[in-house]
Amino acid sequence: MSTLSNSRNIFWQECPVGKHERQKLLNQKGCVVWITGLSGSGKSTLACSLSRELYSRGKLSYVLDGDNLRHGLNRDLGFKPEDRTENIRRVGEVGKLFAEAGLICIASLISPYRKDRDACRTMLSDPNFIEVFMNMPLELCEERDAKGLYKLARAGKIKGFTGIDDPYEPPVNCEIEIQQTGGFCPTPGAMAGQVVSYLENKGFLQYQ
Ligand SMILES: Nc1ncnc2c1ncn2[C@@H]1O[C@H](COP(=O)(O)OP(=O)(O)OP(=O)(O)O)[C@@H](O)[C@H]1O
Ligand SMILES: [Mg+2]
Repeated sequence: MSTLSNSRNIFWQECPVGKHERQKLLNQKGCVVWITGLSGSGKSTLACSLSRELYSRGKLSYVLDGDNLRHGLNRDLGFKPEDRTENIRRVGEVGKLFAEAGLICIASLISPYRKDRDACRTMLSDPNFIEVFMNMPLELCEERDAKGLYKLARAGKIKGFTGIDDPYEPPVNCEIEIQQTGGFCPTPGAMAGQVVSYLENKGFLQYQ
């Protein structure tokens, strides 16, 4: 049987417990905090710090980290443009499920292409997709080179590395931008604080 004929016979099953009830149970509102930026810009660092801060405030979050997902859900995907697109689409769909579950889903992925991130924004209703741009200079990320990947990319041992020989398209309308001030990067706690303030101001950390 072809996939096409299968998809014609798919129905939507309503469940008796809805998003609002789950949000009320958790006293928070489900959303996706989407952290994008170059490798080494601090996405995972922010995701971990944010998750910890939310936990300490009694808020339930879950981190979808690009690297971790490539060990499982996305293990069949590489880094060519169509694989990157499919990678982001899947994470967007999973993020949507987590938000629907009432969680604050923190997705940390390079997600270099604007159209892929915008497709995820469209998947969710706009206020529930919070794009965080780690606006760190390439020089800083390359200097950090926590995984040694920039060195390999510069040596031509990795092809299609974002920022070196594959493009990174910065957001044009992100909700939050994290950047250096006076040549210094904010601490992980300060970065998390910036996101928590946004979530608090927009009413995500309570249910009414
Ligand atoms: N705010 C910060 N202050 C100081 N060091 C930081 C900060 N954020 C991240 N770092 C350091 O920079 C390095 C890269 O950070 P991180 O692994 O979070 O980047 P990433 O964006 O997740 O990269 P990748 O896309 O490769 O997973 C780490 O060694 C981390 O400790
Ligand atoms: Mg990371």
